[in-house]
Amino acid sequence: MDDIVREGAPVLRTVTEPVQVPLRQEDREALQCMMQFLKNSQDEAMAAKYKLRSGVGLSANQIGLPQRMFVMYLTDENGRKVEYTWVNPKIISHSMAMVYLPESEGCLSVDRPVHGFVPRYESVKVRGFDLDGQVITQRFKGYQAIVIQHEMDHLDGIMFYDRINAQNPFKLPQDVEIRSLYEQKGS
Ligand code: CO
Repeated sequence: MDDIVREGAPVLRTVTEPVQVPLRQEDREALQCMMQFLKNSQDEAMAAKYKLRSGVGLSANQIGLPQRMFVMYLTDENGRKVEYTWVNPKIISHSMAMVYLPESEGCLSVDRPVHGFVPRYESVKVRGFDLDGQVITQRFKGYQAIVIQHEMDHLDGIMFYDRINAQNPFKLPQDVEIRSLYEQKGS
């Protein structure tokens, strides 16, 4: 956890720079390290041994590198672990409908509890490069869409709580279809 940059550090407020593609060896290694960190953080024994907080996403500027790349490691809707490495990602389209996590979001760079709703698009289509410099285009919805938008915000120097309503943290945006991630559509 000592390698994770915490809030207050300028690098977390930096709009990060595009990564050279094909990737340089040092960028590949940084991404592999970041992925290993997420896997360790979700492994009970490793997490206990190294006192790791569990995380599902990690952006390069969270380890001090101001570059447009991040990793995700999480459980998909079928209960399978999935991993993604994204380099120079862009949201190329998104739903109008939005969702939020009722328990708010968390971040490895934020050591205090933050309450409030963070509105996110319910689904996003993302295009970028993978570790091998191949173009990937993928659509994410629900929880994975929330995680990817959280990580993409890091690349632009945005923290999740910037999106919480400052006057009332539980106030949702008006004139938008928005629901809790755990509510069924249409209910
Ligand atoms: Co974060």
